[in-house]
Amino acid sequence: MNDLKTILITDGGGRGAALVDKYGQSKYVGRILIVPGNDLMQINTNKKVVTYPNLKTTSIKEIIDICKKERVDLVDVAQDNAVEAGLVDRLSKKGIVVIGPRKAAGRIEWDKAWAREFMLKYQIPSPKFRIFNTEADGINFARKNPGKKWFAKASGLAEGKGAIPAKNTGEAIDAIKQMSKFGKAGETYLLEEALEGEEFSAFALSDGNTFKTVGFAQDHKRVFDGDKGPNTGGMGCVSNPLIVNQNIKKQVEEIFRKTINGLKKEKRPYKGVLYLGGMVVNKKGLPVGRQVYVIEFNARWGDPEAEVIIPSIKNDFYEVDLAVTNGKIKDLKLRLDKKVRIVVAATSRGYPVDYLAAKGRKIFGIEKLKKMRIKIYGAGIKENNGNYIVSGGRVLYLMAEGKDILEARKKVYNAMSLISIEGNNLHYRKDIGWRDMQRL
Ligand code: AMP
Ligand code: GLY
Repeated sequence: MNDLKTILITDGGGRGAALVDKYGQSKYVGRILIVPGNDLMQINTNKKVVTYPNLKTTSIKEIIDICKKERVDLVDVAQDNAVEAGLVDRLSKKGIVVIGPRKAAGRIEWDKAWAREFMLKYQIPSPKFRIFNTEADGINFARKNPGKKWFAKASGLAEGKGAIPAKNTGEAIDAIKQMSKFGKAGETYLLEEALEGEEFSAFALSDGNTFKTVGFAQDHKRVFDGDKGPNTGGMGCVSNPLIVNQNIKKQVEEIFRKTINGLKKEKRPYKGVLYLGGMVVNKKGLPVGRQVYVIEFNARWGDPEAEVIIPSIKNDFYEVDLAVTNGKIKDLKLRLDKKVRIVVAATSRGYPVDYLAAKGRKIFGIEKLKKMRIKIYGAGIKENNGNYIVSGGRVLYLMAEGKDILEARKKVYNAMSLISIEGNNLHYRKDIGWRDMQRL
């Protein structure tokens, strides 16, 4: 068939790798280009994968040039900075088919102050908040409202580091003073009531009019076992977490419905994957007992959530994309398997603080894993003279599936025991999925 499609993806990490894997399984797809990609992208597919290590996801002009030169049929804008930079808008203007939200719809992620006001307007359950534009105003407010726990949040994109918890007024003032370190992203910031509860995430595909929920996951953001240490981009997650029962699912559907309808009303129709970061709050006086609050929306798949949710989609992924871009989500018969998946991040020792000692070190064991029934998704990894070496904090992810969490966990940790980084520089969490293990 010489009419096989060429897909271009913008991402460099495990999420991009999971997308390459999925597009690689499509009968329509012949070739996958990924900006920037990484050196492990080819491992999950026999189709040709081309990476662009010198570009960024926001290299708009260069991406448009590639689309023309390589006759790209569809671009999957998978990463937040690219959405904010308006990549979807620019590509669409050139007549290129794109999956991903336009900048106006993606505002739900890149402008957290706007997003909170939107949630308030459309009665989407969220913590109480105040928006500030000067340091003094926030500090005054915190002083006038003592005895409370807060989150100070930069309104703009801050690589997932923009939310700082504060247990009291003193810590709130400190957190507010840190907002300036986020540059433009921190010029406007929020003080939010700190909620207590259990977090999970949910993902929906929307064509701007309607949506289908694709799956649920539970991420582990802290670097050490027992949820200790600093926050990271994500150390691993499980799909189908047990916290998400019928009651929670119903609430999530309602939140997605209000959000997709609200964005349409605001003339910002949302096309693409919408990520709901939710918290199940269990406090007295709530109308429905355990209530889902929205901690955040993101205009993309999560990473590493993508690595456990995307593999559960059994449809041809190109057809799923066409349903989004052609406004046919309503007719899409989404086929999802019921397996439990676990992904564990293999990181450089010292991540997320200082992992210079691991950079450039050799990674061992990848060859052995190729024969096992697990997936390897690369992130901060490079190939150099036939060796794989470390180039980032989250080096790669291993993902396994099973009929339940026990089976998936056993497989993933067996595989992880075969991986090492020169100089004892490998770190990973050994308790991914601990909440569901306790619930067995
Ligand atoms: P964000 O950058 O908005 O994803 O926040 C990072 C993390 O901070 C979230 O995953 C939550 O664990 C926590 N968080 C943010 N906002 C709140 C809040 N209002 N209440 C409780 N936890 C929060
Ligand atoms: N895993 C969290 C995120 O993608 O934002």
